[in-house]
Amino acid sequence: MKGVILAGGTGMRLDPLTRVTNKHLLPVYDRPMIFYPIQTLVTAGVTEILIVTSGPSAGDFLRLLGNGQALGVDHLSFAYQEGAGGIAQAIGLAQPFVGRNRMVVMLGDNVIGGNVIEPANKFRAQPHGAKVLLKEVDNPSAYGVAELGGNRITRFVEKPAQPPSNLAVTGIYFYDAGAFDLIERLEPSARGELEVTDLNNAYLARGDLTHDVLQGYWADCGESVDHYLHVCNLVARHGANRGS
Ligand code: DAU
Repeated sequence: MKGVILAGGTGMRLDPLTRVTNKHLLPVYDRPMIFYPIQTLVTAGVTEILIVTSGPSAGDFLRLLGNGQALGVDHLSFAYQEGAGGIAQAIGLAQPFVGRNRMVVMLGDNVIGGNVIEPANKFRAQPHGAKVLLKEVDNPSAYGVAELGGNRITRFVEKPAQPPSNLAVTGIYFYDAGAFDLIERLEPSARGELEVTDLNNAYLARGDLTHDVLQGYWADCGESVDHYLHVCNLVARHGANRGS
């Protein structure tokens, strides 16, 4: 299984911290933010990784990471996204790297306290389709949210004003190569982006999506400056998957 880490976007919610650098190069306690998703994938046995990035600081990822071997990456590649056309657009750029393989996609601003070894192994054993990881949160309106009917997910809603549950969709997604065909058929949302929530809804409509609840803490550094500070403190107190 290949790994894809998304590190593009504008980082507007952390302005002015992101005015002259890419959000994923900012420190989270004692490591650059991008180290955390890399380490999460490497710990789950995923050592061929593509980083999708954008903007004027793109070259700094190469200076920081080199060939990735210091973090346990066997093969590190980069793709460049022009603009910020959405998470699903960024995933689409991974097609030449992923080919007919499967992929785990992790948003570059997500930090977890545990690991994804078990869900990764479950996805490897799943015949096809997608898997998302959910986490109970206090502020679901800030995220993609799962709507449940009985024990089943009926649909995903992006940042709903009236959340149908408190189960957020974390930024760790498992897909088969069929994702690329589905992405080609997506239409831009009202905010002009190809939404990962629509990609997940397309898998759901096919009855081809499983889910697990993520164990350990989960945090999205890009949500707000206050949340970014909260993540730094979480990592300082409780540690995280972050390499050496
Ligand atoms: O963190 C989980 C949440 O991430 C999910 O619950 C939401 O469903 C999902 O839409 C996403 O919401 P965010 O508002 O946090 O997305 P954001 O725009 O911050 O982008 C998340 C990451 O994806 C960020 O690290 C940058 C990267 N990205 C984003 C866009 C829009 C790209 O690489 N390219 C892009 O065009």
